[in-house]
Amino acid sequence: MDKLLIAGGSRLSGEIAISGAKNAALPILCAALLTAEPMTFSNVPQLKDIATLLALLGQMGVEISADGDTVTLDASGVDNPVAPYEMVKTMRASILVLGPLVARCGEARVSLPGGCAIGARPVDQHIKGLQAMGAEVGVEHGYVHARVPRLKGARLFTDMVTVTGTENLMMAATLADGETVIENAAREPEIVDLANCLVAMGARISGAGTDVIRIQGVDRLHGATHRIMPDRIETGTYLCAAAVTGGDVRLTGTSTAYLDAVVDKLMDAGCEVESARDAIRIKAPARLQAVNLRTSPYPAFPTDMQAQFMALNCVAHGVAMIRETIFENRFMHAVELQRLGAMIRIDGNTAVVQGVERLQGATVMATDLRASASLVIAGLVAEGETMIERIYHLDRGYERLVEKLAALGASVRRVS
Ligand code: EPZ
Repeated sequence: MDKLLIAGGSRLSGEIAISGAKNAALPILCAALLTAEPMTFSNVPQLKDIATLLALLGQMGVEISADGDTVTLDASGVDNPVAPYEMVKTMRASILVLGPLVARCGEARVSLPGGCAIGARPVDQHIKGLQAMGAEVGVEHGYVHARVPRLKGARLFTDMVTVTGTENLMMAATLADGETVIENAAREPEIVDLANCLVAMGARISGAGTDVIRIQGVDRLHGATHRIMPDRIETGTYLCAAAVTGGDVRLTGTSTAYLDAVVDKLMDAGCEVESARDAIRIKAPARLQAVNLRTSPYPAFPTDMQAQFMALNCVAHGVAMIRETIFENRFMHAVELQRLGAMIRIDGNTAVVQGVERLQGATVMATDLRASASLVIAGLVAEGETMIERIYHLDRGYERLVEKLAALGASVRRVS
């Protein structure tokens, strides 16, 4: 398995481009299942998770052609509305084919995603919503099996804010008979990007980005083209890498528009952040101030940036309290950071981080996508060499990470 070898101490500087958003591309590629006409997507990030989803769509009968960051999908010949366990277990977001398949084919058999390192990740809200829209949904032998001649519009209320739950139900509702209202909807920017794509296909949606989304079902959707929005979590991750090294970095093809909570915390930590139309510049002090944070649904501080900020706090001046309120087990990076000399105490869903002057390089292990990013950030500033194992986690969500970090002056390379 590949590893990442980082020699700490370089102050990052220079400019890199941010890729398309993984968590927008995943639901948007699934939206192609909703129409028999071809869809063309641009700014699609070339990531392991995207490749996994395209393979899953391909075995359903979707014709796929890809050229760099442009992908064309033709779902006119979908004849196998099944997402098998072997493919779903490697990428939970495969559950996003469920809503589109039920809406387009009247039937779907999708393997239950199962949990992952950060939590149990149930999909009960996805199922509850489809049942409320008239689908007969059973869970047997580890598969969700949903059937309905045509979904009916309904008023849906999710017990908690769920991003892919909102996305699945919004996609399903576009072809339902009548109006669907999703209350307590997630407000993430990726949901707005998905809604924009669906509207370009002829869907009738209002309220995306708020906690009440209204969808008037139509009989069919047509083909369209759509450019994937920039990845705000990749953006936040490189902002943290620049911040921890006292760097001066410019990120292009992105904006602070969807990162207010993260930019606020970086400024509280002592960074200067300037935003232009589609670029961000960050200048960091020699040493950051510790910042407290509490993860919550958008627009509050994103859980997907919690691990990266824990790494910042490990070498900041002062003590930081970090509350993780979304997932039940999202502190796996803490024990690995402690191997680098970090002073972290975990108490339930709260981590107390006492900043230290220096981390020491060591061998550490990635456990999940954002935990891996946290270890990279710590390795950039640790004394000596840090070897990160199981970096296939990184490949799932960060396009050309080694190239981008090296372009900013980091001493990093991939070793087998
Ligand atoms: C999405 O996951 C993202 N993934 C995650 O990013 C992100 O961390 C998460 O939203 C929260 O922002 C994609 O968009 C592909 P949820 P999702 O449903 O939709 C509970 C990354 O690093 N819940 O919003 O699976 C759930 O257990 C990934 O890119 C239920 O109980 O998250 C969690 O505690 C990691 N029942 C909370 O709700 C359900 O039916 C929020 O989960 C659904 C969710």
